[in-house]
Amino acid sequence: MSYILSPSILSADFGMLAEAVSQLDEADCDWIHLDVMDGRFVPPITFGAQCVAAIRPLTRKPFDCHLMIEKPETQINAFKDAGVDRLIVHQETCPHLHRVLETIRASDRLAGVAINPATPASMVADVLDLVDLVLVMTVNPGWGGQSFLQRPLEKVRAIRSVAPTHHIEVDGGIDNNTIVQAALAGANAFVAGNYTFSAETPAARLAQLRKALCNASKS
Ligand code: DX5
Ligand code: ZN
Repeated sequence: MSYILSPSILSADFGMLAEAVSQLDEADCDWIHLDVMDGRFVPPITFGAQCVAAIRPLTRKPFDCHLMIEKPETQINAFKDAGVDRLIVHQETCPHLHRVLETIRASDRLAGVAINPATPASMVADVLDLVDLVLVMTVNPGWGGQSFLQRPLEKVRAIRSVAPTHHIEVDGGIDNNTIVQAALAGANAFVAGNYTFSAETPAARLAQLRKALCNASKS
């Protein structure tokens, strides 16, 4: 399974969002990760479908949209119309998770499910046939720049053992060291916000992540 880099614009300068998306468009990344927060499921508020629609014309890279919002089912059509490719909802926000995932699929978008550090892998076992991606949070959602948690890697291993062809995405605290740990545990898709947008250019940072993955797969 090939490795997928999905840099998050959460750590970009929001005053220069268009430039950040254009930089990612030219860099070696596969998807662009969009962290939508509502001030309820998580304390911060980031952006919504209108903002996503505004940046959609700047790149053809798939938009990997991570909904950290309550009642995500109310926003499916808006994000579909904004041009996202995959909608990822949190298990913790969906008492009717099966129905929400079916609705996303019926809207002709890819569906993913995310779990917080405190949520066991078994909570998504019965919806694996409805998603092409499981997002394992390696920090508590809400902020970029937090430290990577080791324990969720056990869930990555457990999910990989029952879902050999799904994308397993890790999100939070990914850098050129933790990306290798996550890949060895069985993750194949990697979100990186703070690492991508700190210090050097996004392209240079993404190249470092790609190199770390390449070295890991040789060893
Ligand atoms: C956190 C978000 C992440 C965030 C990761 O709630 O879901 O996607 O951007 O940020 P870093 O890579 O800075 O930990
Ligand atoms: Zn995210």
